[in-house]
Amino acid sequence: MEEDQGWVRLAGAARLGAGEMAGFSVGAQRIALYHLADGGWRASEDRCTHGQACLTEGYLEGNTVECPLHGGRFDLATGAGLGSPIFHDLVLYPVRVEGADVLVRPDASGEGAS
Ligand code: FES
Repeated sequence: MEEDQGWVRLAGAARLGAGEMAGFSVGAQRIALYHLADGGWRASEDRCTHGQACLTEGYLEGNTVECPLHGGRFDLATGAGLGSPIFHDLVLYPVRVEGADVLVRPDASGEGAS
């Protein structure tokens, strides 16, 4: 994976089908990449804000990801937690697609996704 002004290239990631998600290791961080059913892309840290669960081991349905541990859900349009037991929203990272690669900018928290 190459880095360019904070953007991290996830080589071949654009092959992830719509409605699928996957986790990628970027240094010490684990990034979750979501390919939404409508074709949009979202990325976040691959960790639930409620505990130590990997969100990519949960369920992606429409624009919502559900944590595998306690069923907490996040709206991937905004990162907002959707009720109990989630008290902290998910920070979404900017995403862009270049050919077969997807680039994410993990340090640009709070700017939303494209
Ligand atoms: S760890 Fe995700 S809902 Fe509890």
